Amino acid sequence: MKVIIDTDPGQDDAAAIMLALGSPEIDVLGITAVAGNVPLALTERNARMVCEMCGRTDIKVYAGADKPLSRPLVTAEHVHGKTGLDGPELFEPSFPLQPGHAVDFIVQTLMNEAPGTVSLCPIGPLTNIALALQKEPAITGRIQQIVLMGGGYFAQGNITPAAEFNIFVDPEAAAVVFACGAPVIMMPLDVTHKVMTTKSRVEKIRAVDNRAARALTEMLLFYERFDEAKYGTDGGPLHDPTTIAWLLKPDLFAGRECNVEIETTSKLTRGATVVDWWGVTKRGKNALVLGDVNADGFFDLLTERLANLG
Ligand code: BDR
Ligand code: CA
Repeated sequence: MKVIIDTDPGQDDAAAIMLALGSPEIDVLGITAVAGNVPLALTERNARMVCEMCGRTDIKVYAGADKPLSRPLVTAEHVHGKTGLDGPELFEPSFPLQPGHAVDFIVQTLMNEAPGTVSLCPIGPLTNIALALQKEPAITGRIQQIVLMGGGYFAQGNITPAAEFNIFVDPEAAAVVFACGAPVIMMPLDVTHKVMTTKSRVEKIRAVDNRAARALTEMLLFYERFDEAKYGTDGGPLHDPTTIAWLLKPDLFAGRECNVEIETTSKLTRGATVVDWWGVTKRGKNALVLGDVNADGFFDLLTERLANLG
């Protein structure tokens, strides 16, 4: 499976990158960074740092958009810490960023590879993906699928009562992506709030005891503090690696094809994902919306694949 990961690391983004790099079925063609959890200068550096933690300084990392399509950037240092990757000891990555813009890399890769063979995995705001679709509309028919972490329906929002962070930050970009016509797989909070980093799951990750797993353990222990206090749970939701897990083992998940529209105009509900779960409109189905997950199966997969990074 050929994959481009579009990301704003983020501790849970780091877990997604590690799961992909630890999985022999997945060929990571490149990682594109976007502004989100923290500004772009940090997300692109964090993406390279995570690759290096996995011993993969060969991965191509590109910097993309430093702000949403038409709004000022909103960040989430209150969740992820000042660096976006707080927890482990951080360092300056030893390998450089690729020259060129992430959006050009996405377009060129999709135009050069055989149609229907490259999946996009956006796990941050959807700015880079929307810009690529706008720059070269011909990529739409060449994308195998867009497996994105974003939105919520029954679970509603996390950054506001109505909206999930990735969609809230750039709702106009999300609207472009959901309307584009390529197959969209949506991994909303409804799923990610079922994959909690409980103490026993984090201990199993710690026990893998290689560089990546040790770093991830420290990240998770930092990152879950905010959500534990917010939700009163043992651990916090591990959002982003669910996208990679779906590529690897879709049977761990359940959902249905729905229409999804994005609220872009309301001040109160900006970035809400309006999912027609019950099919009460005649609007066309534009996404596979996941709603359920085998959480133990997901953590077993993550832990097993981290061990490959030794
Ligand atoms: C999403 O927002 C970010 O803070 C996380 O990395 C994840 O992609 C969850 O709402
Ligand atoms: Ca993210």
